[in-house]
Amino acid sequence: METKIINGSEIAKKITENLKKQVENLDVKPGLAVIIIGNDEASRIYVKNKVKTAREIGFYSVLKELPSDCTKEMLFSVIEELNNDKNINGILLQLPLPKHLKKEDFLDKILPYKDVDGFNSYNTGKLARGEKGYAIPCTPKGIMKLLENIEIEGKNAVILGRSNIVGKPAALMLLNRNATVTIAHSKTKDLEKITQNADILICAIGKKEFVKKEMIKQGAIIIDVGINRKSDGKLTGDVDFNDVMEKVSLITPVPKGVGPMTIACLMENTYELYLAQKRGIL
Ligand code: GUN
Repeated sequence: METKIINGSEIAKKITENLKKQVENLDVKPGLAVIIIGNDEASRIYVKNKVKTAREIGFYSVLKELPSDCTKEMLFSVIEELNNDKNINGILLQLPLPKHLKKEDFLDKILPYKDVDGFNSYNTGKLARGEKGYAIPCTPKGIMKLLENIEIEGKNAVILGRSNIVGKPAALMLLNRNATVTIAHSKTKDLEKITQNADILICAIGKKEFVKKEMIKQGAIIIDVGINRKSDGKLTGDVDFNDVMEKVSLITPVPKGVGPMTIACLMENTYELYLAQKRGIL
């Protein structure tokens, strides 16, 4: 029987294994720096995985851990140090930041050609204009790879969630591929009417098993970005996986869906920044 489940882990592994081969024979390795501020448990797990994967591939990777009461000046100085570090090609500032720090102030301090997340104004602007910048955000990039063999042009794509990390850049990437895109969010009226019209539904709202079968179209393709914890400690997505299964044509699971693709794309972005910096056309 043909499976409806898109195995993100498998696709991500192919990407990282391929990168490993590219890096093997390099004298100078691509370098990734990850900055984390404070003690948010989920963020700490994410960043450790990022650094671990980078090192497994053979990249040089450093983790900069700053305290939750870190000042603006401290963070500016860490970013400046990394901007000037020849061994670092990509800089990632893990979000969210503590409340006293405004992310916009810092994301724009990362040099555009070291902005491995594609979150600063230059790279965001390039994506919005449908042009190539230095990097595009990792989670939506991973989503687009999962949709690689799917005809997107002319399809109704609905995105639940309007974050700068996933919802907005995913909308732009789908629009650049000629989908008809709708972004729904917490203030959207008649949500079911919108989701029922989605050929492709991307769920990134952080609400445990929010999407049920009544909300989707027969044959829909569902990409579940949510990572939520159930009372038994297990992870689950924004979609009620078992409930919608009978109606979907394709679906990503949680875990082993979008999550590993985010990390694989971060690695790919690091390598692409390394190549761009090596070429010197900046
Ligand atoms: N927090 C949640 N996802 C991400 C991401 O992709 N990049 C960064 N920097 N922070 C995040």
